[in-house]
Amino acid sequence: MKINVYNDMNSLIDNMVQRLIAYSHCQQATIHIALSGGNTPKRLFEAIKIADACYHIDWSRLHFWWIDERCVSYRHEESNYGTAKRYLFDHVNINLNHLHPFNVERPAEQSAIDYVQQMRQSIPLSQNGFPIFDWVWLGMGADGHVASIFPHGVSIDSLKWAEATYHPETNQSRVTLTLAVINQAKRIDMLVSGRAKAKMVQKILSNNVAVDYPARYVQPETGQCVWHLDQKAAGLISND
Ligand code: 6PG
Repeated sequence: MKINVYNDMNSLIDNMVQRLIAYSHCQQATIHIALSGGNTPKRLFEAIKIADACYHIDWSRLHFWWIDERCVSYRHEESNYGTAKRYLFDHVNINLNHLHPFNVERPAEQSAIDYVQQMRQSIPLSQNGFPIFDWVWLGMGADGHVASIFPHGVSIDSLKWAEATYHPETNQSRVTLTLAVINQAKRIDMLVSGRAKAKMVQKILSNNVAVDYPARYVQPETGQCVWHLDQKAAGLISND
């Protein structure tokens, strides 16, 4: 695992944008990228939209999937897919067939089953039969959750590809990919900013085996995981 600390959120975001631009021009025929929800991606999406106008991102080989989704209409402000469309995909030249949202018209359990079929039909599988995303963009909650894998929620050991679950405080119905899928990715970027997460960052990145939060189990089997922190989120970890 690698840790990058940036002076501020804009520098963190710019690093991701530059890598997306470069990746979009690589020779790989199809690139499967899985996106998280929440607030951090909104700033990233806006920066990508601006960059696309200046540097021409080649969208032709990029396919976007979602790490998790809130079971609300795409028009709802909390929809991860709806947010990505409003902030980015409605403004760039991407084929809508390259966007693979969860079907939130179905009950969460069925939406998870449908998504597994979609992934099975489109994404290369690892030797142990799990889909291999080329790039996963993760966020982390202050409670140590990633995706919609909350403490005491979906099992970190689940061998399913996707599961129905609930937000522990709002009880909002969710669907989420599991760590079994996330950890097959070739590259995972964990984007964490703000002072509110500094304590959890310190817990997760310490070597304290007693720490038992989902974010600790983001450990790609063969791929690379990079934590991108702004100074505030990195405030309690040593720089050595
Ligand atoms: C979601 C996300 C969730 C998010 C973290 C961090 O649907 O809410 O998948 O896991 O990444 O809660 O969110 P922020 O980027 O808003 O801090």
